[in-house]
Amino acid sequence: MSEEISKIELSKLPFMNSAFALEKRVEDLLERLTLKEKFKLCAGRRMWYTKPIKRLGIKPFAMHDGPHGVRVDEQGKIQSTYFPSTICRAATWNLELSEKFGVALAQEVRDVGAQMILAPGINIHRTPMCGRTFEYQTEDPYLNKKLVVSVVIGIQSQRIAACVKHFICNNQETNRFTVSSEVSERALQEIYFPAFKAAVQEADAWSIMSSYNKINGIYGSEHQHLLREVLMNKWGFKGFVVSDWSAMNRTTSTESCINAGLTLEMPTFNKYFPSKMKKAFDEGKFTEEILNDNVKRLLRIMFLTGLFDEESTLLQGSRNTSEHQIIAREIAEEGMVLLKNEGDILPLNIEKLKKIAVVGPNANLQTFLGGGSSTNFPPYEITPLEGLKQKCKGKIEIIDSPALADVTIFFAGLKHIKGMDAEGDDRNAFELPPEQVDLIKKTIKENSNTIVVMIAGSPVSMTEWIDKVPSVVQAWYGGMEAGNAISAILFGDVNPSGKLPITIPKNLSESPAHISERTYPGDEKVFYDEGIFVGYRHFDTKNIEPLFPFGHGLSYTNFTYERLILSRDQITEDETLVITVDIMNSGIYRGAEVVQLYIRDVESSIERPYKELKGFTKVYLKPQERSTVVFEIGKNDLSFYNENIGKWVSEKGDFTVLIGSSSRDIRLQSKFIFLG
Ligand code: BGC
Repeated sequence: MSEEISKIELSKLPFMNSAFALEKRVEDLLERLTLKEKFKLCAGRRMWYTKPIKRLGIKPFAMHDGPHGVRVDEQGKIQSTYFPSTICRAATWNLELSEKFGVALAQEVRDVGAQMILAPGINIHRTPMCGRTFEYQTEDPYLNKKLVVSVVIGIQSQRIAACVKHFICNNQETNRFTVSSEVSERALQEIYFPAFKAAVQEADAWSIMSSYNKINGIYGSEHQHLLREVLMNKWGFKGFVVSDWSAMNRTTSTESCINAGLTLEMPTFNKYFPSKMKKAFDEGKFTEEILNDNVKRLLRIMFLTGLFDEESTLLQGSRNTSEHQIIAREIAEEGMVLLKNEGDILPLNIEKLKKIAVVGPNANLQTFLGGGSSTNFPPYEITPLEGLKQKCKGKIEIIDSPALADVTIFFAGLKHIKGMDAEGDDRNAFELPPEQVDLIKKTIKENSNTIVVMIAGSPVSMTEWIDKVPSVVQAWYGGMEAGNAISAILFGDVNPSGKLPITIPKNLSESPAHISERTYPGDEKVFYDEGIFVGYRHFDTKNIEPLFPFGHGLSYTNFTYERLILSRDQITEDETLVITVDIMNSGIYRGAEVVQLYIRDVESSIERPYKELKGFTKVYLKPQERSTVVFEIGKNDLSFYNENIGKWVSEKGDFTVLIGSSSRDIRLQSKFIFLG
């Protein structure tokens, strides 16, 4: 069995024949593997690879981080496109763009010869303090699910595997290796599951990464109920589960992970050390059938990603192309959120201004490094100051003294360092550093025309100074094209159209996870006592006014909402309600609006959120142009999870359709009855 098979003999084996059905090839290859070889395939080596099995021509399956671009080495010898942070992409609410991003990301993965990208990260924003908020999408399960489906479809269209992470309830970095997220079944079903479930069922995600933390007392990598029963049996996941890096060092045993359905231990063996696997097998702690299922899942993805194919027959990869850089710029431009714009100080007029002061600690900051596993190495990164210099060249003088300037732009924010927006630890303060707050206040005194551009991947406190500045732009970390995108927004070459995928609270204590020490950060356990009332579901229901609500984002133009029409005033469980609404650009700039549809259950047998997002469409309109937006609502959009009976239920009764420009700027509403 162990002697080498010649290349020619190998090419004649059934599993090498691409004319055969995938499942047949997988079965054939599996049958040829010895037990020892199966063990070997279950753990990685050299950080990013599986072990080869030369005898059968199985090459190493290569995977790399991460969500904002592919990173191959730690020194940046291999460069790649640096896309904006995930939260910025989410703020675009643009599904097509998310798919395009997925395609571009996968092309870069292909170009470095790998098969899988360790992205997207889709943990729910439970608290703004999570060190990885920037790397995740949103606080809302519906937006989360729509976005992840688009990204995964984009990635996998290139025959590159997406690895959706981190399953599940890895919503903080504090104690991430040990903490148990104590979460109710209802919150799992309504808040934390939907995007993972949709990634599996609507996008056929080829891999899921288990999280470091425990969920209700059991580590993610050995959670038989979550992996085997929910992910695989209930949702029909056909891909393979990979552990987060070294997550299995802490799990209880080899067999608990195998039996749970975890295929691949990364980056190297600990619980899946071959001798440990053999011992557990000999002692009857797992069956070969279970092991086969785990291994088959990986083999299947190896075939799907073309690991056994001639490279020349695969889709071509590409990296650092101008096309990819344009996508990075589009995401940055569409993701920036105009939070406030009093007196229409923005957009700036390039013809009228003489002097602009550019100040603040983030003005000339590059952001590609330091976030943790989402670090990557771009060939360049344009800082805000560089972008402005380029834009103003020959027209406006850039100075550093607010007192002498017509307008001051203050680049405030956080960085990718420990205690701010970085993996491994949570943020150590909701506020900006005190020196920065002092500097903002001093700047405002010197020049009341001060615009604050917030470079941060998570919400920061603004209450101390927001009333004194006319304009604030949330610019996130905008990737390698950040500086160009910021200039385009400030000067109105691009009309802002980003909308917050997360609530910005006035005070952290008002945020749902910050009720007590037990709810955040917890100790051995962190209790998700807020249940389903995460994000705006909490602020709405508890009637707390946030600083800026979920879905908020201004434009330089105005949109008028007219003619909300429901196709009927009552529906049965088999019927669909068609909702149309007309949007008109009633201002003077071309622009885009994210039309949001929320549903409110007027009366319910159990407490439900005041409203829940159930649809959105981004429309692009010229001045005076009008468009009719169509939504469809059915039984499932009205349902909630009833823990008592362990089922989703839709109750008869009155529902309200709320159409708005944000979760708190509802322009039109109408009622209908669900007849059951
Ligand atoms: C992170 C993952 C990442 C992995 C590999 C872990 O620490 O949690 O998101 O993909 O490292 O770098």
